[in-house]
Amino acid sequence: MCGIFGIITDREQKLGPILVESGKRLAYRGYDSVGCATVTSDGTIDLRKGVGRIEDVSAELDFPAMRGRRGITQLRWATFGAPSYENAQPHLDSDGDMVGAHNGNVVNNVQLRELFLREGLAVRGTNDGETCVHAVERHFDRNGGDMLAAIRAAYDDLEGDYAFVITHREEHRLYAIKKGSGLVAGLGEGFACVSSDLPSILPLTRQVLYIRDGEIVVLSPQRVELYAVHDGAPIERQSERYDGPLEVAEKGGYPHFMLKEIHEQPVVAGELLHLLNGSRHVDRFLEMLTTGGDRPVYLVGCGTSYHACLLGAYYLNQLAGLAAVPVLGPQFIEQYSQSLGVADRAVFVSQSGETKDILNAVKVMRQRGGRVLGVLNVLGSTLMQASDVYLPLGCGYEISVPATKTFVNQAALFLYLAYRLAKRDTGELDALPSLLSQTLQATGEPSRQVARDLNDWRDMYYLGYGLSHPIALEGALKLKEITYAHCEGIFSSEFKHGPLSAVHDGYPVVFITAPGDEMMMINHVNEVTTRGGRAIAIAAEHTALRANVHDYLSLPPSDRFLSPILATIPAQLMAYHMSVARGLDPDFPRNLSKTLTVD
Ligand code: F6R
Repeated sequence: MCGIFGIITDREQKLGPILVESGKRLAYRGYDSVGCATVTSDGTIDLRKGVGRIEDVSAELDFPAMRGRRGITQLRWATFGAPSYENAQPHLDSDGDMVGAHNGNVVNNVQLRELFLREGLAVRGTNDGETCVHAVERHFDRNGGDMLAAIRAAYDDLEGDYAFVITHREEHRLYAIKKGSGLVAGLGEGFACVSSDLPSILPLTRQVLYIRDGEIVVLSPQRVELYAVHDGAPIERQSERYDGPLEVAEKGGYPHFMLKEIHEQPVVAGELLHLLNGSRHVDRFLEMLTTGGDRPVYLVGCGTSYHACLLGAYYLNQLAGLAAVPVLGPQFIEQYSQSLGVADRAVFVSQSGETKDILNAVKVMRQRGGRVLGVLNVLGSTLMQASDVYLPLGCGYEISVPATKTFVNQAALFLYLAYRLAKRDTGELDALPSLLSQTLQATGEPSRQVARDLNDWRDMYYLGYGLSHPIALEGALKLKEITYAHCEGIFSSEFKHGPLSAVHDGYPVVFITAPGDEMMMINHVNEVTTRGGRAIAIAAEHTALRANVHDYLSLPPSDRFLSPILATIPAQLMAYHMSVARGLDPDFPRNLSKTLTVD
């Protein structure tokens, strides 16, 4: 949530286009408001900001025209303070000498604001990014105008997890600090930059430095210096070259990133399998996964990543007999922390590798001496750095806020691990990319038609049995996330224990069914259809099942372990088409952010 970018250059220039481009590459982190600030050679600050998406605000306020030698962009996902001009970032200090922006959450924001107001500082809004700027301003005067000392002192006052970037108009330097939220620095010819995430840096330079918690970065055009916040001592670390792909945030002919990313699934699944087959990390990962004796292994995730954990638990148990407990990040802390010990292992699954709910759980695991195994998509993320061993998802950047291809690869990765533990031939999984392509082909148009038929409904259910239950949850999450309709995913046998009362004429219920579960599912279908409900099946061809439902989204034949992964595609497509049919933008659903670095 929220994205920051800052740059310092060796000559005055039109920084606006760079700030806008970097901002667009961070837009998935927040789009409630956006702002840019530049500082010219003579120390003049130009600050422009407004509520809305970067494309619109930039056009209205002419961001591209902004000139300077230093620049900051911020994309906001609102937590403290409603989206408004005052709460949009960057923020000025009281007398307009400093400008800064943050991401993350300052949890004692309210108390600090009251203190600042009592002290006579010019507090303009209620946003905690502004609090970061005032916290530095306040210590700047007390520390004789020393920015580094002021930031170190402010760090002690600002509780929570955040990263911020700040500059003083009279000093040709840019400062940034990391405490819990992601921060990466880049160094290029005649400039240095810092950002919440790599995508905004890579078009400018591939020479990067991953910043760690408790570090202050001081950027000048030729240098990136690091200092420890606790004692101010310099830290030696060389920048490294990032050789990964430079993903261009383009839609490649698709109307939305979500549709593009859904169609990328066959390719990224193939790349993941290739990556896993050649990875030396897999053996270490499996060894660590199985060293806990009788202790269950925890699979920890949030949202879509949690659904992958649920499916992973089925795979590990059904294929390899391993007891796995799927659990939400905060639930892991609340429900299991007291019984964790050195023999425990947990797989933490996160697309971004920055989800605070996950990082909190990692911290608890560390405190209890257990092992941290990471599964993540964003290389260099905090989760990657905090893991004893990690496996990458290899999806490239996922721009669209709803997770699609990363879910498929999380599921495929768990299936691969289960195969390895079961000593089954992982070559059997090589069929997955082609099966995913066939599924796209077979269910593309039918999913659109069903979506069109159902589009007037604001309420529906997704039901799945066993292995398909996680996909029912995922289908329901996608649908509510991007259509704003209510949709619930349920274990199909549970439906009769209460929710069945919702069913009336035409009420839509989607039944996701893996091979072998069809006859069981027919019972659950009939409980709905006899009460007037409309049953939509997502399953491989099965004559008896087809005879009992109204609509059939037919999957290519596969086995019961691959089938749930294939079933994800029509569920994603139905949600996508319903969102578009409602005139919504599935890439940027209201109120959401792709990276949630807050509690
Ligand atoms: C839904 C979605 C979210 C994320 C969740 C966890 O489409 O994207 O539910 O799955 O916020 O994010 P990561 O995987 O980055 O930890």
